[in-house]
Amino acid sequence: SQNRRPIIAGNWKLNPATISEAENLLKLISGNFKNHRTLDGPEIVVFPPFPYLTTAINELDGTGIKVGAQNVGLETKGAFTGEVAASMISSLGASYVMLGHSERRTLYKESDSDINAKVHLCMEQPNLNVILCVGETEEEYESGLLKSVVDLQLKKGLMGLKKEDLKRIVVAYEPVWAIGTGKVATSEQAQSAHIAVRGTLSDLFGVEYANEVKIQYGGSVSPASIDELMQMPDVDGALVGGASLTADSFTRIVDGG
Ligand code: G3P
Repeated sequence: SQNRRPIIAGNWKLNPATISEAENLLKLISGNFKNHRTLDGPEIVVFPPFPYLTTAINELDGTGIKVGAQNVGLETKGAFTGEVAASMISSLGASYVMLGHSERRTLYKESDSDINAKVHLCMEQPNLNVILCVGETEEEYESGLLKSVVDLQLKKGLMGLKKEDLKRIVVAYEPVWAIGTGKVATSEQAQSAHIAVRGTLSDLFGVEYANEVKIQYGGSVSPASIDELMQMPDVDGALVGGASLTADSFTRIVDGG
């Protein structure tokens, strides 16, 4: 992956059910990475649910592992019951926000313009980076629409960003048909999709940026599949769902197999 430092992230989704379970998981992760020279290895980020963010930040202190939020609201403050603002996430000490996950797009009807507005709200916070998720459905894949789908998601999702803000964006390519299905894309499929994503980013923002931007693969990544994926020149890391919920498999993915 050229000179790009890999980034491995764990998306906990709506897990685990209680803070004590979250603490257990965080303690195990923290134990595994205490003596890890994380500076030499990949960047590592975990994305717990909102209520566990502070605990995660505290438990992972000293490991070099960063913490991110899985979403953010569209408002900044005021009478918006139940919402969460980017400033709140940033002020806790979290350093990432994940946006545009396919579950947000499909289950919660987030549009590309919602996602773009959220990207901008995160960029207004000095310390937030964004993982922008894109990816096609199985039907779109079968119809040969991968390139045009991710093209549009990237174009609309990143619209209006300043050059210096683009440095704070990581793209996660997650084919919807591979999420939670156990059906991981082959390394060749991932590589060719990542080339498509990088090509679009080159058209939008120039070849220099396209060569710098990190593109993660997500969708049923496990210790068994990580090595082959990471051998692909355009795969710069992984966004891991189910396998990030046990410290052992997450650690093995970070370490490689
Ligand atoms: O964001 C990661 C995710 O959507 C992939 O989930 O469980 O297939 O690794 P999983």
